[in-house]
Amino acid sequence: MSAVLAEAPARQTAQTTKSEVALVLLGTGVVGGAFLKLLCTPAGSRLHLVGAANSRKQQTEATQLAARDLRERLKREGAARDDAALLDALDAHQATLKVIVDATASIELASRHSEWLARGYHVVTANKSLAGGQLSGWRALQAARAAGGRYGDSATVGAGLPVLSTLRRLCDCGDSLLTLEGVFSGSLSYLFNQYDGSRPFSALLREARKLGYTEPDPRADLSGEDVARKLLILARNAGFALGSDEVVVESLVPEALRDIATEAFLDRLEELDEPLATLHEEARVRGNVLRFLARINQRGRARVGLTEVPLTHPAARLYGTDNQFALTTTRYHTQPLVIQGPGAGPEVTAQALLGDILALS
Ligand SMILES: NC(=O)c1ccc[n+]([C@@H]2O[C@H](COP(=O)([O-])OP(=O)(O)OC[C@H]3O[C@@H](n4cnc5c(N)ncnc54)[C@H](OP(=O)(O)O)[C@@H]3O)[C@@H](O)[C@H]2O)c1
Repeated sequence: MSAVLAEAPARQTAQTTKSEVALVLLGTGVVGGAFLKLLCTPAGSRLHLVGAANSRKQQTEATQLAARDLRERLKREGAARDDAALLDALDAHQATLKVIVDATASIELASRHSEWLARGYHVVTANKSLAGGQLSGWRALQAARAAGGRYGDSATVGAGLPVLSTLRRLCDCGDSLLTLEGVFSGSLSYLFNQYDGSRPFSALLREARKLGYTEPDPRADLSGEDVARKLLILARNAGFALGSDEVVVESLVPEALRDIATEAFLDRLEELDEPLATLHEEARVRGNVLRFLARINQRGRARVGLTEVPLTHPAARLYGTDNQFALTTTRYHTQPLVIQGPGAGPEVTAQALLGDILALS
């Protein structure tokens, strides 16, 4: 056995007889891939992978699941996608805890989370589409949780920074959220931490895309929709029953560039430059900087968009792709409780998934 293999035990599979947690992984992309690597570390040794799927293929064969190149193999081979077969694999396992891990952005899969909880599976997710989607979906999720289903959602906000757990703990202690403000997107944090007017915004955006800080189509970041989903998740967990249409989202993408193909958008990035340069210069003259902030106030008014802030503002002092969450509550009212740190990246997000699974057991 090579030294590498000796250090990293093979992934546990359905053939292991004595087990505590059996799981199915949906999504073997950037986050799912990092999660598969974690399963091969000692921290993942009590977890038994009984199924894995991408959007087209899935695998429930023990030897295939144990393969170190499972993610690559799934791109080429495997059974056709069928959720029922994955659930059968979970049911067939003797583990007492059966967990579905959602590392996709699929709205369709997210819409099944509540049903899975009701059927006795636990769900651990990086997918924001249910808790940050339609209010009816959130309500169904709350009902399934109240009936005993356990939902691990740490990875949905701040890539596992202890934001949701802190917020829930405060609320459990009778504290209430008065305002929440912050920078909830790693890519938008990076872009506005770097943007000082010396280079066109489009050049910075191209660089950020190359570094993998933005989605392949940067409009997914620039639209503010992902930030709005995170704001909804936090607000709802704090007791604000907000509908998704109640967040005012000010997109950075001009209307003319919203519905064109990705390649066409990438060819026209320079159209973002002039409006942003003007806003930057106006802010600079007033001694301020631009930040892409998410905010909710005491009356439940929620807004996501570009905001001018003074240099003394906490968001003016962010670095790299840091996220920041400033919570003002009835008990933290003189100064906000600020949670800040890297809020993106596959390793920390996968770790948040693993942490939620381990917390179940
Ligand atoms: N990347 C980060 O740093 C980060 C941080 C926090 C949260 N998240 C969240 O984590 C989730 C995954 O992000 P990612 O960056 O890993 O995305 P990604 O690289 O695009 O991977 C998504 C994966 O989901 C699979 N998928 C899509 N629909 C599916 C379905 N119906 N059944 C099974 N698999 C399906 C895709 O399959 P194919 O390969 O066949 O397309 C792909 O393997 C997203 O919700 C994202 O918002 C990501």
